[in-house]
Amino acid sequence: MSLPDLVVVGSGFFGLTIAERCASELDLKVLVLERRHHLGGNAYSEKEPTTGIEVHKYGAHLFHTSNERVWEYVNRFTSFTDYRHKVFGKYQGQVYSLPMNLGLINQFFGKAHTPAEARELIAEQSSEIATEDATNLEEKAISLIGRPLYEAFIKGYTGKQWQTDPTKLSADIITRLPVRYTYENGWFSDTHEGLPTDGYTAWLERMADHPNIEVRLETDFFAVADEYKGRVPIVYTGPVDEYFGHSEGRLSWRTVDLEASVEDVDDFQGTGVVNYNDADVPFTRIIEFQHFHPERARTHLPGKTVIVHEYSRFAEPDDEPYYPVNTAEDREKLLRYRDLAKAEPMVLFGGRLGTYKYLDMHMAIGSALSMFDNTLRPHFAEGAALR
Ligand code: FAD
Ligand code: NA
Repeated sequence: MSLPDLVVVGSGFFGLTIAERCASELDLKVLVLERRHHLGGNAYSEKEPTTGIEVHKYGAHLFHTSNERVWEYVNRFTSFTDYRHKVFGKYQGQVYSLPMNLGLINQFFGKAHTPAEARELIAEQSSEIATEDATNLEEKAISLIGRPLYEAFIKGYTGKQWQTDPTKLSADIITRLPVRYTYENGWFSDTHEGLPTDGYTAWLERMADHPNIEVRLETDFFAVADEYKGRVPIVYTGPVDEYFGHSEGRLSWRTVDLEASVEDVDDFQGTGVVNYNDADVPFTRIIEFQHFHPERARTHLPGKTVIVHEYSRFAEPDDEPYYPVNTAEDREKLLRYRDLAKAEPMVLFGGRLGTYKYLDMHMAIGSALSMFDNTLRPHFAEGAALR
């Protein structure tokens, strides 16, 4: 069997962007290896079979970007709906519109503050601690937004996300806690936002739909590595520590347990995402997927809805790695893995797992486009070294 020109390990947005660019622009034969039974990485979605509602299997995925190049590129494969993401948060029996804004402040304090009055109130409440003196996440948050808002909207939620009391978390987990002194409640503030009209999987499949691209599912790279290592260039988007057999120790991740259920109601919560801020509620959020696509309402089975309870925890070795924990120890290990990665001949490391970095979809795509421009095209088209 003849060798491909390039092997891509992982069929998430990073891997598929690399494969698509190399196949379309450079006419390379690209073999994509994917160990799951489907392509698409964590953005994969499928219709819940009884209701017809699209469910994002690895957690809710909202697309947004201010990067014009990425926006132009993704529109080659899909159109986007005009969905604008909103998030609500429950606390002590009331529902608030997030992120923290004038509406939330007025509801929470039971008064009709003007923008200037609200600004003054939060400045006064946050004066309790100076930001540069904060020694942990709790103090940092109080220094930014004051104790009352911290206790209602940060303390319980963050504690559940990290399974750790915020006084034991590092202050540098948060850099800013933006408060809007307007009623604006769009979750993102990027130039472009929307959901793929035909769903994520159709978009991802179109990226791979090229005669030069072969996607081999249920194939773990490590089972076939000897066939390719050192013989063809490889772009590896799996976990960097796994590539090196965890020689420098395991990098730590948080994962999310997703418990999906079909409920016998037309509408469970009236919106896509509700955060649960009370510490004594064990889950962090409930997602209701039908609200991501109101334009599909006619195609959904009436009287039913799909919801997902999310529970956050530290990942064990067999769990899906979702968010880097990024302790000081992790950062030290990562530096050693980066040196190993640099020295590994003919292999480039990329993506969320390959760089141990949380990347939104537009960032994964943007970073793959850069790797194509800066490394792969010069190598294949001009014979430059692969590094
Ligand atoms: P992945 O999508 O993780 O793809 C990596 C692929 O490599 C996987 O399919 C994996 O099976 C495969 N693989 C790994 N090791 C091997 C191996 N040895 N052999 C073969 N295959 C292998 N982004 C947004 O823009 N908006 C959101 O709302 C959003 N929500 C998210 C929610 C969660 C819970 C998570 C985890 C991510 C979210 N993202 C979101 C980020 C989005 O999923 C990333 O952009 C995307 O995962 C990055 O793509 P990737 O290709 O780097 O990694
Ligand atoms: Na302060």
